[in-house]
Amino acid sequence: MAKMWDARFSKEENSRVNDFNSSIRFDSRMFREDIAGSVAHATMLGRCGIIEQSEADRIVEGLKEILRDLESGALAIDPEAEDIHMFVEEVLTNRIGDTGKRLHTARSRNDQVALDVRLYLRREIGEIRALLRELLNTIADLAERTTGAVMPGYTHLQRAQPVTFAHYVLAYARMFLRDDGRLAEIYKHTNISPLGSGALASTTYPIDRMLTAELLGMDGVTENSMDGVSDRDFLAELIFALSLVMTHLSRFSEEIILWCSGEFGFVELDDAFSTGSSIMPQKKNPDIAELVRGKTGRVYGDLTAILTVLKGIPLAYNKDMQEDKEAVFDAIDTAKLCIELFASMIGTMTVREDRLRQAASGGFINATDCADYLVKKGLPFRDAYRVSGRLVAYCIENGKTLETLPLDVYRQYSPLFGEDVYDAVDLDNCVNRRTVYGGPSLESVRRQIALVRKAAAENE
Ligand code: ARG
Repeated sequence: MAKMWDARFSKEENSRVNDFNSSIRFDSRMFREDIAGSVAHATMLGRCGIIEQSEADRIVEGLKEILRDLESGALAIDPEAEDIHMFVEEVLTNRIGDTGKRLHTARSRNDQVALDVRLYLRREIGEIRALLRELLNTIADLAERTTGAVMPGYTHLQRAQPVTFAHYVLAYARMFLRDDGRLAEIYKHTNISPLGSGALASTTYPIDRMLTAELLGMDGVTENSMDGVSDRDFLAELIFALSLVMTHLSRFSEEIILWCSGEFGFVELDDAFSTGSSIMPQKKNPDIAELVRGKTGRVYGDLTAILTVLKGIPLAYNKDMQEDKEAVFDAIDTAKLCIELFASMIGTMTVREDRLRQAASGGFINATDCADYLVKKGLPFRDAYRVSGRLVAYCIENGKTLETLPLDVYRQYSPLFGEDVYDAVDLDNCVNRRTVYGGPSLESVRRQIALVRKAAAENE
């Protein structure tokens, strides 16, 4: 195919160079955005009198037809085209003739691609946020069902203090809420129009940048034309935000993988979200959670890729920047898939409250509460801590628990112990007396659930 720039060149492009240079394979997914940007640009050119109004109308009409035909499948993307921008312009010119050649007045592919990516990411950010909100509601449902499910909370993966399953999973809800907030901020950085920056030094035509921005529903325009075409911070920020989403999903996946092992047995995954083994008939594997954990590495790779691509390029546009798209598209596709599947997986898993309570009962996770009991009776905390520690050692040696230890044994360690110690070390009491704001008590957990639901329903 003849190149747009063949007037300047005396040789045809090497066919392998064409493939190497081309981005149509991955940027064709921005066809809607490319057309929307061109519609706004042509409209502005018409209104500013840079092209005839009738020409602008003809271009807009032609672009809308191309959009319809691409959506219906009547028009196929030409894999030989260099990129989506060239493809749309060529089809337009083939269809409406010379008027089509006026579309690119006062524009460069450099500001065009910067715009397209911003519009595309704007849409994807909205979709990712919607998926995160579904995940948040799934966690809130799970929490609602498990407010009484006492389990051990861990530090160093050693049983530490009692919490409930609800409180545990609500910790993850806070992470996803922060992710959502981060995406809302990145949306603001993204929804700014670079159009009018031209190749790098703007243009001599009397364009109206505010008008194109307004027509595209953008919140403002970039302030410096060289930055306008070479800024990809919003894109790197998005991959970072998605990396953090993946970090959170991966940590949660790791919990699930441990929890559905025979050793923990805290949850059971639905058959539809597990896989079997080709050789070991007894196996039920948490492949989804493992894949989410694995794909996290892939999204981190995308982040490293974009940061490395950007770090050495001088102003303004350089072709290196074409590498931004595969990285961000892969991060988006991967994160969306993972959020969605992860939500379905945890929404259908069974929480085994009996196993949780069993684990909570065997690990002396009420030893702090035993010490606190003595403190309330007047002993300084450090002394109480030692008494409680000696009691635990006694229990371990004699196969006892703090809940079942006879009172006379308790009294051998401190005369301050009375009948009410059993009430103090009761696991449900240990949880529900932690009424501190943000703690695991039933009242606090209910408040947390309400907050998650409210945030997930809000539209900002
Ligand atoms: N396909 C290119 C990209 O993705 C579009 C911009 C091309 N600009 C240029 N000066 N060659 O970056």
